[in-house]
Amino acid sequence: MNHLHRIDGRLFLEEVSLEDLAREYGTPLYVYSQAALTESFQSYERALAGLPHLICYAVKANGNLAILQHFARLGAGFDIVSGGELARVIKAGGQASKIVFSGVGKTEPEMRAALDVGIRCFNVESESELARLSRLAKEMGKIAPVSFRVNPDVDPKTHPYISTGLKQNKFGIPIDQAPKLYLQAADLPGIEVVGVDCHIGSQLIDLAPIADALDRVLNLVDALKSLGIELRHIDIGGGIGIRYRDETPPDMAAYRDILISRFKGRSQEIIVEPGRSLVGNAGLLLTRVEYVKSGDSKNFVVVDAAMNDLMRPALYDAFHDIVPVLDSGDLGMTCDVVGPVCETGDFIGLERSLAVKEGSLLAVLSAGAYGMSMSSNYNSRPRAAEVLLNKNEIRLIRERESIEGLMAGEWLVY
Ligand code: LLP
Repeated sequence: MNHLHRIDGRLFLEEVSLEDLAREYGTPLYVYSQAALTESFQSYERALAGLPHLICYAVKANGNLAILQHFARLGAGFDIVSGGELARVIKAGGQASKIVFSGVGKTEPEMRAALDVGIRCFNVESESELARLSRLAKEMGKIAPVSFRVNPDVDPKTHPYISTGLKQNKFGIPIDQAPKLYLQAADLPGIEVVGVDCHIGSQLIDLAPIADALDRVLNLVDALKSLGIELRHIDIGGGIGIRYRDETPPDMAAYRDILISRFKGRSQEIIVEPGRSLVGNAGLLLTRVEYVKSGDSKNFVVVDAAMNDLMRPALYDAFHDIVPVLDSGDLGMTCDVVGPVCETGDFIGLERSLAVKEGSLLAVLSAGAYGMSMSSNYNSRPRAAEVLLNKNEIRLIRERESIEGLMAGEWLVY
């Protein structure tokens, strides 16, 4: 993780001691480094330098208003998938004209809200969605800018739950059916065809599928040109994978080479929708050990964070490194780090080697993406607080939920 270091065995993110943070804000606590957010954004800017482009941060990775605000200030656009994400981006100061709207199930109110503020593009995923959008835009006296999300049938070589570009996935329009739909769209009222879009999956560690998908999309772009349809932008979908354990994420220079070789001589703007690689290694989850339980066959370290705070281990068997905030130098024991939720799947990490005792603090690393944004209130657990660090400055960017707050909006019936 970036900007994480030790001073006399104590863990710091930027210039802030994690022990101090736990004392002040409690645990579980999500902690983010602003410098890391800026650096990851700039690495995409460098990869795309010299090519017309727009980096649209995928809000689903982490939708905290302060994080959106930070990316907006860096000049980012946003990739949204719901009316809720649209409202967040606007509230955080994002520009509507830099928003692309993805997703297979856009509702009428969501489409209306997006037409109202004037987003850059709807990434349309079906013929029915196109018909609905055309009707609504016409009713509202607006023109909806449209890009079709095509499914290139490429194996992204990632976890099956986060693969999206295969024939059997629910996403996009089969690439061979796209020309027919483009021609249809060109004649529909309220629709302006502006681009093409493709997203094959997340946590991509291999660049070959990205290049392969891009080549298929560029063939389509050329075929469309010969049909008289000229596109203004090509959206290449999400970003590259990150290191959680021992993965070797793609090198940004190699990523740039792929883009330069494919886009040299083309006039279209490149849109990219990275989420994980912008925030994943900028954040960690701080948690405290409640109990150490030694069973017959296993040791369990029961912490105060659970699957409701960080769902990725339970849902994808995902690995997050777990390190003690105070490094005692002891060898430690092999243990499962588990939460208090009543499910065997409620673990943060299995078979880890850790020297901890009750009251120790642990940092669960690389938790900035799809951590807080996928959290829930399962077991009536209030969601964690979030802080954003800038050097030695600490900003509380989301307060811890209260138990009273969890019950607001529910009614007794007698
Ligand atoms: N664009 C679209 C249309 C997407 O569906 C996604 C992610 C992205 C962009 C951002 O992809 P990224 O740069 O983050 O790879 N919850 C899962 C990840 C689900 C990703 C879904 N789509 C996880 O925790 O691994």
